Amino acid sequence: MTKELYDEARQAAVQAYAPYSEFRVGAVVVADDGRVFTGCNVENAAYGSGICAEGNAISSAAAAGVRKIDTVVIACLDAGECYPCGNCRQLMREFAVDTVVVQDGNGSLRVHPFDEILPHSFGPDSLESDPQKD
Ligand code: THU
Repeated sequence: MTKELYDEARQAAVQAYAPYSEFRVGAVVVADDGRVFTGCNVENAAYGSGICAEGNAISSAAAAGVRKIDTVVIACLDAGECYPCGNCRQLMREFAVDTVVVQDGNGSLRVHPFDEILPHSFGPDSLESDPQKD
């Protein structure tokens, strides 16, 4: 199952628009209801406003009504190891991701509990006005 999701993330990376970095990334998000969303990185001439693959996949999920994500799987066509950036880790935290899967560069996958990706994190439940609370 994880391998299939990783293959799907690689497929998503094929669509990456990364003419500046030439670093193509794809991501797959599995929502708590089982729905799957994909994304790739999309750069632009104003470098800083490019969007990561994970951000695009998570935004698609959120736009479809998802508020809890179980798993994020990341694939990169142009590097071995590829871990998510800080912004994407925080975005994952917002949607309570449980597990992050990354490639290790040697043909294997690493499955991380989210706490290993963003330990001692700040999130919605750190606020008194937690928007996720009923
Ligand atoms: N990138 C991602 O899309 N996800 C990651 O996990 C790491 C970095 C993108 C951002 C930028 O378009 C390119 O890779 C190089 O940083």
